[in-house]
Amino acid sequence: MRILVLGGGGREHAICYVISKSSKLEKLFCIPGNGGISEIAQTFPDISLNSFEKIADFCKENNINFVIPGPEEPLVKGIKDYLEKEGIKVFGPDKLCAQIEGSKAFAKEVMAKAGVPTAKFEIFDDSSKAKAYVEKMGAPIVVKADGLCAGKGVFVCDTKEEAIKAIEKIMEEKIFGESGNKVVIEEKLVGEEASYIVITDGYTFKALPTSQDHKRLLDNDEGPNTGGMGAYSPAPLITPELRTKIEQKVIAPIIKTLEKEGHPYLGFLYAGLMIVNNEPYVLEFNCRLGDPEAQAILPRIDNDFLELVELTIEGKLAEVNLKEKDGAAVCVVMASKGYPGKYEKGKKIEGLDKVSQMSDVIVFHAGTKKVGDEFYTNGGRVLGVTALDKDIPSAIEKAYKAVSLINFEGAHYRKDIGKKAFKYLKT
Ligand code: AMP
Ligand code: GLY
Repeated sequence: MRILVLGGGGREHAICYVISKSSKLEKLFCIPGNGGISEIAQTFPDISLNSFEKIADFCKENNINFVIPGPEEPLVKGIKDYLEKEGIKVFGPDKLCAQIEGSKAFAKEVMAKAGVPTAKFEIFDDSSKAKAYVEKMGAPIVVKADGLCAGKGVFVCDTKEEAIKAIEKIMEEKIFGESGNKVVIEEKLVGEEASYIVITDGYTFKALPTSQDHKRLLDNDEGPNTGGMGAYSPAPLITPELRTKIEQKVIAPIIKTLEKEGHPYLGFLYAGLMIVNNEPYVLEFNCRLGDPEAQAILPRIDNDFLELVELTIEGKLAEVNLKEKDGAAVCVVMASKGYPGKYEKGKKIEGLDKVSQMSDVIVFHAGTKKVGDEFYTNGGRVLGVTALDKDIPSAIEKAYKAVSLINFEGAHYRKDIGKKAFKYLKT
């Protein structure tokens, strides 16, 4: 098969990596790709993900069997609807289903219809009514811009004043543009966060290995929120009992509700959860794999990934036995100095050749660029170093050994990835 992956981050490198292992692959393409992806796929750094027309032409010229979008933006903008009109298959949700991530108000409405547990909420398109609601409810309270905001649109507020300021920034100053036309205001939940990701053909679903992300920049979950500084899989917080609850109370009802509306959801569905007293509550849905969760999850799947995607597109997911490898994976993200704020690019990355000698270590590239035989930094999150081993402590040790061999000027990484799991592990 001839496959096109869209995106250029660590998640897309992980997708390309598992596809490149498939016996069904004839040729792999990636738009735009990155330095690491260019070693296993033909990449096209100059084609924009916003140009659906160019992507459609590309698919026709290269006889692409199907397209796998990595990030949310093209899905939310309707790339599936566009390409399918041109006769090109896409592994991902249609525009309506993708609004489960693209509009927090839409997600809340679907959750309410499906009876899915989530924080109590109200939706406002008028800032004075939103402020009056905050005055009435008091703090703590959470204010969320409705649309996509590159992960920056959520304000968890400890005081009413902070919440009012957040409403002003989102709805009046329009710091996120049109994404701030509406806000969702909801109660603050206190618990532990976990991600639960499934693959679905719209009728049935299979859970991927569980995982947990580390969103804050610094150790002990301090510092600003980032796209994610590391992940591990499996997440022992998610016990078999909790898995059943999540599937029955969250995943199945959402898939059923969208199917009933005439929009069976195809692709990866990601539930961002807060576990409160062993009960799952949905904080958000994403219409894609997580990044860096994918870098810990995908190497632990023991199926031919391309075959899995193909059967899902054909509506035959029920026939698949999704197999999870024993052991664990830990992914440590190495970022540029200054991330998630301003950072410099173009720093030479050294030591990758040493890590390539290690077994069961995969270096997924995010913001990198290959020039000649050398790699240079080209983004905020630069690398995701994934190690596989028999359990989480051994995978942590191996991942950090690999990280210690890699160097670029200003490299920053957390030293405590995976440690959250320890309190759930039997000693
Ligand atoms: P979201 O994009 O909706 O997942 O929100 C981003 C982050 O904000 C989450 O990962 C949580 O850490 C936090 N958050 C969102 N909603 C709530 C809530 N209702 N209560 C507490 N924290 C929240
Ligand atoms: N790691 C969080 C996300 O991908 O949204």
